[in-house]
Amino acid sequence: MIKVGVCGCGTIGSYLINIILKKYSNRIFLVGVSETNPESLIRLRRSLKKKMIVFSLEDLVRKSDLIIEAAHASVVPELIEYVIKYKKQVMLMSVGGLLSKKGLLKKIQDNKLRMHIPSGAIAGLDALKAARMGKIKSVKLTTRKPVAGLIGAPYLIKNKINLKSIKKDKIIFQGTALQAVSKFPKNINVAAILSLAGIGATKTRVCIVASPQTKRNTHTIEIEGDFGTILTCTENVPSKLNPKTSMMAMLSALATLDGIMINVKIGT
Ligand SMILES: NC(=O)c1ccc[n+]([C@@H]2O[C@H](COP(=O)([O-])OP(=O)(O)OC[C@H]3O[C@@H](n4cnc5c(N)ncnc54)[C@H](O)[C@@H]3O)[C@@H](O)[C@H]2O)c1
Repeated sequence: MIKVGVCGCGTIGSYLINIILKKYSNRIFLVGVSETNPESLIRLRRSLKKKMIVFSLEDLVRKSDLIIEAAHASVVPELIEYVIKYKKQVMLMSVGGLLSKKGLLKKIQDNKLRMHIPSGAIAGLDALKAARMGKIKSVKLTTRKPVAGLIGAPYLIKNKINLKSIKKDKIIFQGTALQAVSKFPKNINVAAILSLAGIGATKTRVCIVASPQTKRNTHTIEIEGDFGTILTCTENVPSKLNPKTSMMAMLSALATLDGIMINVKIGT
């Protein structure tokens, strides 16, 4: 049995908890959760028809073997501290949080942290990792999202960009992945995932397009290198609970958890 704790019980966290209880109860002991919003806990309890034990973040890490983070980028640096301190494994969804604090990635490497990062709502990371063994000239991500999937982003608020009245596609941001994750912390984790697998957050280019017509979160990735060209595109159905989150991101979290389970022997 592996002891799992879940930080953040919103769209992704509650989806995984439901599946853990239904499908993995012979292999996973669900320790409990860490959650800041009482409404999320009420929703979770209703969907499970049972109460989860709520811990502080540090206690959750201390009591678990594996912590699944599905909360917010801001929790990542503190979570990583605890995970290193107590020598635990972590699966991260708020991947942009890894870029939010200087030195965090190096600390993770120095401490040989066992960190699992689902591929999120994009395709082609396997080929990008292979391409990295040679020379990569450029990596560009173009993300096209419905307006509802972008509303509330700090960049839009700071620059007083009102998307509600747009009639056609509008480019709202162009820059590096590092800039993108700080300006859109809830919307563009895929930029961080792509940078970590490829040429890094200051070299990976990101373009974000707000679209009044589309109903899908579309990620187009163009990679150029000595090997040739890679072009991938995923057109993702957004979650009904949270339009910022794609169904594929939830499935990628489940696939990663499933992969971790394959490596855990029953009864250990
Ligand atoms: N890696 C990817 O491809 C990918 C895709 C979609 C979403 N995400 C990220 O995953 C995270 C979860 O996404 P979601 O759709 O479930 O979001 P959500 O808003 O539906 O749920 C997040 C939950 O975390 C809770 N939370 C926030 N801060 C917390 C903290 N410090 N401690 C404990 N709980 C906290 C919130 O109250 C909420 O209940 C977000 O950061 C999101 O940006 C990543």
